[in-house]
Formats: sequence, C-alpha cells, structure tokens
Amino acid sequence: MTSKKTVLLAGATGMLGSKIALALASKESIDLRIMVRSRKVNNEKKQQQINILEGLGVIVEGDLNDQESLEKACTGVDTVVSAVSGWEDVVVTGQLNLLAAAKKLGVSHFIPSDYTYNYFNIQLGDNYLSDFRIRVAQAVKESGLDYTFIMNGIFAEVFVSPFFNVFNFETGTAQYWGDGETQFDVTTIEDTAKYTAEAVVDPRAINTSFQVVGDVISMKEAVAAYEEVKGKKLTQTSKGSAEDLKAWIEQLKAENASPFSIIPAQYQWGMVTGKVKLENIVSDRYPHIKPKSLKDFFADSNTQTFELVLNQS
Ligand SMILES: NC(=O)c1ccc[n+]([C@@H]2O[C@H](COP(=O)([O-])OP(=O)(O)OC[C@H]3O[C@@H](n4cnc5c(N)ncnc54)[C@H](OP(=O)(O)O)[C@@H]3O)[C@@H](O)[C@H]2O)c1
Repeated sequence: MTSKKTVLLAGATGMLGSKIALALASKESIDLRIMVRSRKVNNEKKQQQINILEGLGVIVEGDLNDQESLEKACTGVDTVVSAVSGWEDVVVTGQLNLLAAAKKLGVSHFIPSDYTYNYFNIQLGDNYLSDFRIRVAQAVKESGLDYTFIMNGIFAEVFVSPFFNVFNFETGTAQYWGDGETQFDVTTIEDTAKYTAEAVVDPRAINTSFQVVGDVISMKEAVAAYEEVKGKKLTQTSKGSAEDLKAWIEQLKAENASPFSIIPAQYQWGMVTGKVKLENIVSDRYPHIKPKSLKDFFADSNTQTFELVLNQS
C-alpha cells in the first residue's frame, strides 16, 4: 500500500490553479493543502472561489513575499505545485522564496509555474516570460529537490483569444506570421490541470520536462478546424515571415513598447519557428484523460466564452 502525499498548491485562486485544485483533490492518494494569500477577501467572486477551495483541501494562508508564512505552509509537505502568475517579483523572486522554504522544510518535489512551451530550446531574451521560467528552472535544478517542468504548449483558450491577436471572429479574419504550415502544441487549461495531477503522483515525471498536449496543429489547420466546426469561412493572411516577426519584435523593444504588447508576438515567434515544439510528449501514458483537440474546443465553445475565460484572470 502506498502512503498518501501531502501536496501544497500555490496559485489556486487563478485561472489554471483553480482547475489544478480540482484535479489534485480528485486523487485519493493526495492530501491537498491550498495556499491563499488571505482566507477573507473583499472581492465577492474571489471569496466564492476561496469558499470552493475550502471544500477541496486544507486552506493555509501564505504570501510569496512572506517567508515565515511560506515555511509554515511547507511544513510536512511532500510536493509543492506552483501555479502562480505575475511579473518578475512573483514568478522569479516569489517562487524562489517558495523554493527556499520548500528546501528548508524538507519538501522532496517542486513543480514551478511553467505550463508553457519548451523554453529550453530558446535563448534568454527571446521571451520576457520564458526568461523568468529559465531562471527559475535553473534554481530548481540547483536546489537538489526533485523537479517537474510541465510543458503543454499554448492554452487553447489563450490561442483563440483577442490577447493572442491571431483570430478575430467578429471580422472573420485570422492573421499570423510565417507560412502557416509549422505545427505547434495546444492544450486546454482543464486538460493541463488534469495532466499536472498525474505529474504529482507518477514517479516517471520526476526530474523531467513533463510534456503533454491536446493537439498538434498549424495556423492553417487551426483556421480549417474553426471553419469546419462553425461552418464559417475566415479570411487568413500572413503578416510576414518568422524573420520579419523577429525584426518587428526588436523594433518594438527599441521603441520601448510595453512588454505586455510584445509578449504575444514573442510567443507566436517561438511557435511559428517550431523552436518551442514539444518533442517528448507523454500524454499517452494517461489514456483515462481524453484531451480536447482544437476542433473539440471550438465545438464546445462560442466566441464570447473565449473572452470570458481570460477575464477571469
Ligand atoms: N501556456 C499558456 O498559454 C498560458 C497562458 C496563460 C497562463 N499560463 C501560465 O499558467 C500559470 C498560471 O497562470 P494563470 O493565468 O492561471 O494565473 P492567474 O489567473 O493570474 O492567477 C495567479 C495566481 O497567483 C497568485 N499569486 C500572485 N501573487 C502572489 C503572491 N505574492 N503570493 C501568493 N500567491 C500569489 C494569485 O493569488 P491571488 O488570487 O491572491 O492574486 C493567483 O492565485 C502561469 O505560469 C502562467 O504563465 C500559460
């Protein structure tokens, strides 16, 4: 008989973290501990989320900027799962605080907040957010703790959203960089959460980039999937080559454009060059998870939902 694992989840009030909480809570072999910044908040919607989380695990209060709270949260924990999000102060400084607390308190397994494409195949400077992950991954490896880096490509919800700036369902257009033929990885948020729970309990996930995917698809195939499911044509155009995209990104940087306006372009560059493609996908190990293809996702959604999902974050 295997003994139960105590798992601490950080970021459980977030878009992905709330789904990871559900997935972890469904595993009998896990005692779930959920770290929130505060049990009582002024935001009604967030309070409802916290109330739901109380039904899924033991709530502890903790803040990535408060070492004492992190050490309390990590006491007696086997695995830390982070799904926090933010800028450098949260993703790097905050997660390194969490890592230090985990190490001090004898946590054995640390899963940082990745849930992205294969950032090991790009360079520092190629993507602001990937830079943070590369730095955290290095520190996690150096900590000596067991690690798992979860890689799922782009969330389907984000790929089709206005933020990503490829699809405009109102005008019936799709605009992308590159020739539209290069394939990349797409996974829904819920499927990513389910695979994350598997990574927590499966020893094969230890010290790996844990690559899972719902669909492998090109821009042209993504447009075709939409057209087939919705019965509507999209006018698709290429804005230029992947090299043109890189030059445009560098121009935006030189003009001191906000990083937030550059980040979607940086992600698209990684995808349409094929550099961040997942190459060691292990989703098949978990046949009980039936991940959604992009076509399934379109079939189950409407365009309003695409925006709603992102507004939750
Ligand atoms: N592959 C993709 O396409 C894709 C797309 C989007 C996101 N992601 C990644 O998925 C992960 C989760 O992102 P998300 O969008 O789900 O995040 P989110 O909705 O913005 O939620 C962020 C979470 O971090 C928590 N947090 C922030 N600062 C904190 C602090 N100082 N102390 C404790 N908790 C703190 C927040 O808590 P509060 O509720 O207290 O603020 C919240 O629970 C990130 O790694 C993100 O980059 C990937």
